[in-house]
Formats: sequence, structure tokens, C-alpha cells
Amino acid sequence: IKRTKIADALKSTDFGSEINIKGWVRTRRGNKNVSFVALNDGSTINNLQIVIENAKFGDEFLKPITTGACINVNGVLVQSQGREQSVEVQAVEIEIYGTADPATYPLQKKGHSLEFLREIAHLRPRTNTFGAVFRIRHHMSYAIHNYFHERGFYYFHTPIITASDAEGAGAMFEVTTLDLTNVPKKEDGTVDYSQDFFGRQTNLTVSGQLEGELGAMSLGAIYTFGPTFRAENSNTPRHLAEFWMIEPEVAFNDITDNMDLAEDFLKYLIRYALENCKEDIDFLAKMYDNELLDRLQFVLNNKFVRLTYTEGIDILEKSGHKFEYPVHWGTDLQAEHERYLVEKHFKCPVILTDYPKEIKSFYMKQNDDGKTVRAMDVLFPKIGEIIGGSEREADYDKLMKRVQELGMSTEPIWWYLESRKFGTAPHSGFGLGFERLMLFVTGMTNIRDVIPFPRTPNNADF
Ligand code: 4AD
Ligand code: MG
Repeated sequence: IKRTKIADALKSTDFGSEINIKGWVRTRRGNKNVSFVALNDGSTINNLQIVIENAKFGDEFLKPITTGACINVNGVLVQSQGREQSVEVQAVEIEIYGTADPATYPLQKKGHSLEFLREIAHLRPRTNTFGAVFRIRHHMSYAIHNYFHERGFYYFHTPIITASDAEGAGAMFEVTTLDLTNVPKKEDGTVDYSQDFFGRQTNLTVSGQLEGELGAMSLGAIYTFGPTFRAENSNTPRHLAEFWMIEPEVAFNDITDNMDLAEDFLKYLIRYALENCKEDIDFLAKMYDNELLDRLQFVLNNKFVRLTYTEGIDILEKSGHKFEYPVHWGTDLQAEHERYLVEKHFKCPVILTDYPKEIKSFYMKQNDDGKTVRAMDVLFPKIGEIIGGSEREADYDKLMKRVQELGMSTEPIWWYLESRKFGTAPHSGFGLGFERLMLFVTGMTNIRDVIPFPRTPNNADF
């Protein structure tokens, strides 16, 4: 008989039918005569109860069916007497695929701390919590593609290995095939990359934006969705060295269109999660965060407040609140400032625009005041910055001037600069940090807990 997934079995009313179920044992309890095995196969947060008559199989055979073991069961689907689920399976045949010695299997029945589970990243997807988080992660990925596809955006693949620093922040992981025990040097003492695979210095991308802009300036509207890498040494609950970013880029959009897109996109994703991941979200809310559903609804039902960085700074300065990092015009905002605006002042998601050019990237459109650029950051409760974006500088001379002011080398971005010479046009885009979105939707508080195998300083073990 064909295997039935537990999610489908639990919805079935085909009582009396034969059914095949495969899964991992969550718990086993019972008495001398019967065993009750709670089985999970990842298709749902809910377990299916397998009822086993001990005499039919023998105690010796059943002994290794313990927490963590994987079994294959043929049985009969029956209505359940218990309250938890409406169906259960009476076992007819059982095959044990793999045992899990209770003396060494780390995931025993008791609750484990999230910190402990991080140390067993290879096994934590077997827990209710991480099963729920990773199912939601899948659904959010799917929703992202859906959103853009339905609106005529093309999924544009930008390179992982690049020679440019898209953010100009110098936080890159170098990629090289040079022999590190004997690095070839040029006469002036600098590294000679001519023997490298690419014949030049390369790194893992920090953002697909620069290439994405070229996509927008030809296909009209594109988005990227891929891994990005930052070697910034920030050991915080909101930073990863390897994170996934979604970067839409749209020709002819100005900063207001860009804000409208960002707000509509985020609301779509949250609505999608509530409609398609309700059981998993309810579980996480119950376990970790009883305000989660209210927060999700709140973001859905309220228009995001829009104001300039300058107005934001004014509010922060006048607040009288004691911040760990003091703020004044010109400082980059920390999560504490962003969260103050969102959680304490406006009690609503905020879009801050027109930041000082000194704290933003070289490619942002310069305002006429000569001091600010057409940047926009979307700030969320509990998260702080969830999206960063801007209208782009479309004028070749202004862009070139800014690149030179910053002392950047034009060589690795000559192709980007050239795009402003041939049919340049206004365009805008933004980047959504996928794991920041996941934090918001799941209510988890550490970014290490929303990606299967997190990469952070001193942690690439799994
Ligand atoms: O603000 P960022 O650095 O913007 C860019 O990379 C632009 N190129 C995006 C664009 O306009 N196309 O990053 C965008 C978002 C942030 O708002 C944040 O959500 C997330 O990416 N992010 C990180 N997420 C996890 N770990 C990190 N180290 C992150 N750095 C940025
Ligand atoms: Mg940013």
C-alpha cells in the first residue's frame, strides 16, 4: 500500500481502510497490553497515534521503538477515542527502519532550551518548534515567488561570486584558489591574483542589487532571492554571516512607489502566513510569544507611518529616553532607536526616508539639499530594520562624483557605472532580510533559530 502522510491521515474519514505510515517516534507510552506511539513525519505539527497490541509483536521486538526511532507501519485507520486527534492507526505490521538508543539520543521527551538545540542543529528539525519554523520558512519562500510572479516581476539570478562590493561596506568573505601557505606577491608586496582561478580578487556577494538593477533596466521589474554574505563581526540576535535576501528592483519607480511596494509586499506575506501556516504559528505563539497573533494582525491592519530621518531624530532627541547609544543628526540608528520609534512612539511600523548620505551606500539618489539621499528603511516592532532600500542615483555624473568622493575604485563596478550612460532612467528597489521576516512571523527572538544551519562568528560546524 502507498504511504499516506500524517497530515493527510489526520484529515481522513476512511475508517477501516488499510494505511501505510512512516515516521519518527516522538513518544511511546502504554501498559503491559498496549503501546501508544506518537508518530511524526514532518508533514504537520500534529502526531498520529499508533496503537500497538504488545502480544501481537512481542516485547523483544517492540523494545527498540523508543523516542527518535524511525518506523514503517501498516495498519487500519480507526476513529480515535482520545481527545487530541480524531483518528489513530491500529498496527498490523511494523518494520523498524532505524533505532535511536535512549542512552545517547539527545532529543528526549522533556523540553529542551533553544540554546541547547542550537548545539544539535543536525537533529533540531525533529522537534515541534523547528518543524514549525522550517515549514513556515518554506511557505514564506513560496509566497515570495507567488507575490512577484503574480505581479509580472521576473526572478533574476545574480552571481554569488563577485568582484565588486555592492554596499561599499568592506564586509566581504574573500573567495580564492591561491595557495594560502604560499601566497604569490607582486613586486610592491600586494597579492598577485593572476594565478587565482578568476585571475582577480573575488568575494561572496553582499547583495545582488547592482546586477539586479541591470535586470530592472531591461526586463522592467525583477527580484532576486538568494543567499548573501557579510563578514561583519556582529554577534547579535539579528545578524547572520550568511542570510537570504529578497531584492526587488523596478524601472521607473520612485521612492514613493518603492515604499508602497514594500508595505504591500510585507502585508501580503504576513496575511499568507496567517492563512497557510495557522497551526504552526498557533503552536509557536503558545510556546514562546502570546502576543504574536496580535502583532501580526496589527501590522496587517495599520498603515505604516512615513517620515524622514530628520523628523525621526527630532522625536528621539526630544523623547527624554536614555539610549545606550546617544543619537543626534548624522548617527546611524541602532535597533534600540528604531524600536523606540516603532514600539513606544508611533506604536506602528515606520518607514524612515532621506537619511544622511554619509551613513548610506554610494548608489542612492542624492537629494537637492546636498546632505541626504533618497533612502528608505522599514522598521518593525521587535525587529527594527526589516527592509533597506532606496531610489537609485540615475545620473552618471552625480554617481561618479559620489564614487570618487568615497575613494572607491571604479574598476570593479565599471559596468554598473556604464548603465547610467546608456538609456538611464529613474528606478528603485529594496532588500528584505528573509530571516528578519521569519523572526517577525514566527515570534522567535534569535535569528539563529529561523534558519536550519546558521552561520555566525565562530560557528560553521553543521
Ligand atoms: O540594508 P541592507 O544592507 O541593504 C542592501 O543590501 C541593499 N543592497 C538592498 C537593496 O536596496 N536592494 O540589507 C537589506 C536587509 C536589511 O534591512 C536586513 O533586513 C537584512 O537585509 N540584513 C541582514 N539580515 C541578517 N543578517 C545580516 N547580517 C543582515 N544584514 C542585512
Ligand atoms: Mg540597511
